[in-house]
Amino acid sequence: MPDFTRSFDEDIDGTAIAHIDRGLFEAHARDEAGYGDVAGHDRMWFVARDIAFDHPVTADQTARMLTRMGLDATPLSASKVTRLRQGALSRRVLPDDIDFTLETVVSRMIGLLLIEISASHTFRWAEAVLGDTDLVAGEGSAGVLVSFIRSDETPHVAWLRTALSEMGDRTWLGSGGAKHAGGDMISLLWDRAVADSVLLRRSENINSAMGEVEHALSGRSDAVDIIDEMLSLGSVVRLDDGTVADAGGPAPLG
Ligand SMILES: [Fe+2]
Repeated sequence: MPDFTRSFDEDIDGTAIAHIDRGLFEAHARDEAGYGDVAGHDRMWFVARDIAFDHPVTADQTARMLTRMGLDATPLSASKVTRLRQGALSRRVLPDDIDFTLETVVSRMIGLLLIEISASHTFRWAEAVLGDTDLVAGEGSAGVLVSFIRSDETPHVAWLRTALSEMGDRTWLGSGGAKHAGGDMISLLWDRAVADSVLLRRSENINSAMGEVEHALSGRSDAVDIIDEMLSLGSVVRLDDGTVADAGGPAPLG
């Protein structure tokens, strides 16, 4: 964590910024990942899936699914951390005199906010599908579980939006005392994050979702028909190289 009191020219007393390292990040992390014996959203999603599909899958299948989706659950090695940091340093967008740790934390907060916003669309969809008692097991309880996850996202979005707005309204201090308008600093990070999110992540996400659909249908004689029908219902199209792209463009943020 950067020293927030020395990062800005103005006072941060009583702001959300002053609470980032006094509970906000930690509370958000516990909601997502759980804490001790208390399950977070990570396990709640698996429980919703197991209720809805009426037969619990093994941890082994879960690990394989995460691998297929490119999610590596093993802890980062020290050398990987160094490589990631060097990569991030080479693509930093703020002036060199701004604390790189501050840039990293604010970039992460913006990334989280964008994930929360796009996730809210998925949550609404999942709640409707898993709440459909004609379609899935559990008498609607899987959908109720998703609604609990969704309601936790409201304060996540709110604290991120508040702290980022406060930072944008302040003057950022460089290491030599130079002053930078916070609105400019936030814009630089925001624009890069939005470009990554709508161009890069969107494409990665629909391709990994398609991979899961194809995996689930493999071995079925009507797999091609089902995929064709699914694609006919939306704006995602198959490209010549076999990957998929959203011909309707990215969904508008928010
Ligand atoms: Fe969240």
